Order: sequence, then C-alpha cells, then structure tokens
Amino acid sequence: MSDLKSFASDNNSGTHPAIMEAVVKANEGHLKSYGDDEISIRTDEAFKEFFGSQARIHYVTTGTAANVLGIRAVTHTYNSVICAAQAHINNDECGAPEAFGGIKLVPVPSKDGKLTPGMIAPYLGHIGFVHASQPKVISITQPTEVGKLYSLKEIEDIVEFAHDRDLLVHLDGARMANACAALNCSFFDMTTALDVDLISFGGTKNGCMMGEAVIFLNPDIGEGFNYLRKQAMQLVSKMRFVSAQLERYLADDLWLTNARQANAMAKRLADKAGAINGVEIIGSVDCNAIFAHIPPKATDTLLEKYYFYVWDEHNHTVRWMTSWATTENMVDEFVEDLRKAVKAVS
Ligand SMILES: Cc1ncc(COP(=O)(O)O)c(C=O)c1O
Repeated sequence: MSDLKSFASDNNSGTHPAIMEAVVKANEGHLKSYGDDEISIRTDEAFKEFFGSQARIHYVTTGTAANVLGIRAVTHTYNSVICAAQAHINNDECGAPEAFGGIKLVPVPSKDGKLTPGMIAPYLGHIGFVHASQPKVISITQPTEVGKLYSLKEIEDIVEFAHDRDLLVHLDGARMANACAALNCSFFDMTTALDVDLISFGGTKNGCMMGEAVIFLNPDIGEGFNYLRKQAMQLVSKMRFVSAQLERYLADDLWLTNARQANAMAKRLADKAGAINGVEIIGSVDCNAIFAHIPPKATDTLLEKYYFYVWDEHNHTVRWMTSWATTENMVDEFVEDLRKAVKAVS
C-alpha cells in the first residue's frame, strides 16, 4: 500500500470499496457493448430519478472530456463561451476546448471563481456583430476551482440572465456532490429546478475510479452527442465498467456520504489549523478545499512528509484538499505536524 499522505487533491484518493465491488460484479459474463448493456441502461434510469425524466446522460471517462464534449455539442465554431478566469476549462485542460472543440473561451476576471450577471454583461456587447464571436454558453463551476459555492439563488440569477439573452448555462459539476452536501440540497434542486441546460457530472473525485457524465437537461440541445463522443474517442466499448461505478455511486446515498465526509474533514482541518498561531485560513471553507498562509519554511518541512500544493509561492499560499477517504486521524496527525513545523520557525 502507498504511504503517500496527501492533502493535495481529492483525485489522490482511491476508489471507494463499494464502487470497486460494483466494478468487479460488472465483470460477470458477456454484455452488450458501447452502452447498450443492462448496467448502463439501469444507470441512465437512476440518473433520471435524480435529474428528471427529460435528462439525457452520456458517460465519459474524464471531466475534461465531459466539459469539452458537452460544450462542443451546443456550440458552433463562431460561438464563444463565457467563464471565470479560474475555470478548469480555461486553465487546466491544456487548450482542449480550443484544440478539440474549436471553442472560443472568454475568461472573466473573478476573485473566487464565481460569476454574476453584472460581471458577465460587459462581455456581451458584440451580440449580432458579424465580426465578433457570438456568445452562446455561460459556464459556471460549482463549487468553483477555489472551493467557493454559488447559492441556488445565484445560479438561478445567472440562468435567468442567460436565457433572457438566448444563452445556455453549463455547470461544471466535477465536485457537485460536495456542493449539494454543503448546501443541503439535491442534484435536482441545484440544476433541473433552476433550468440549468447542461452539466458535467463528476464522480471520480468523490469515490469513483473514472466515472463522469455529460447530462443534457434542456431537451432542445445536445443532438448528435453520441456521434461526437465517438469521434472524440470517448465511447468506451466496455461501458458497463464506467456506468457500474456511477450506478453504485448514486445508490444508497453513497455520493452524499462521501461528499459529507470530505467536507467535514476540510472543516475539521481548517478549524484546527486556523487555531495555530502563524497559520491563516484564507476565506471561507465551503466544501473540501482549504487555502492557507503558512510560513514558507514550515511548508518545506511539511512537504517532506505530506503531499499538497503550494498554490502561490509569492504570498506563501498553500492548498489542502480532503476527500471521501480522509479520516479524522489523518487530519489530526497533519495538524499536529503543522503545529510543530510552524513552531519550529517562529
Ligand atoms: C472544476 C473541475 N472540472 C473538471 C475537472 C476534471 O478534470 P479531469 O479531466 O482531470 O477529470 C476537474 C479536475 O480537477 C476540476 O477541478
């Protein structure tokens, strides 16, 4: 077993044992391929219970694929997509939206990765002007890349603003389970009920092995997605192994249990670390990401034993992240080592 002690990313956690079991179970016998198998069909139905019967669900293996293909399916090459500057599609997808999707992104400066109608409005001046790319999608991330939450009302306001202008709203939900757990609401409340048009639904960070989905909620969009996914090499032949993960993820509130654990461990870490002299927790801890200022020498000491990101070298900001697999003991041991490391340099 690896002895890496990670507070770097929820991606560093393994697969939840119940999901692993579901994958092993899915290994029995011959089943149809490319999503025509009974597990994928059952999983589609399970998703519809959460998102409504009009939802159309398409499984992919990465969140980047979900974002790029979902947005590609609803845009022409002359369209643009408005997102926060911090958005994963803008910063962390190696130009895939541009290279594979032909998607022009319009990044909007934001403090916390969130957008508001007021922030978006100045970027819509060229609607109808033939020389300018035409805005088509507003993409928001919930929770944002810096761990902040939109309230349901804030999402609703963006959707209303978008629809009034014939724009669509895409929600990057790589961690939407953490958001729903924190806001104490359902997936339906956060998306379908607010008229969000399409979602990148993430399971990987919260216990799946590699389970993501593009979900179209608006019945008028997403035509031809199946062909697009195949073109983009994301039509998995043995799809049952992807859908089996998500079927188990949705069952028995596993998604919620896992997300609650990740969020609770972040809160525990922030509360305990924040009480140490010389450690400053930056802003609110809404879900499972924590940003903190700690002395750089303490960072060096901690990095000898733990793995986490130095987010901004210049102002000594680090990011710690918890996951479904983070335990109280792990947090407490980390905080104790943090306390010693900070004391040694102060
Ligand atoms: C906000 C957000 N969207 C999407 C993704 C999905 O990325 P990947 O392609 O690595 O699964 C991530 C992963 O870090 C993310 O943080």
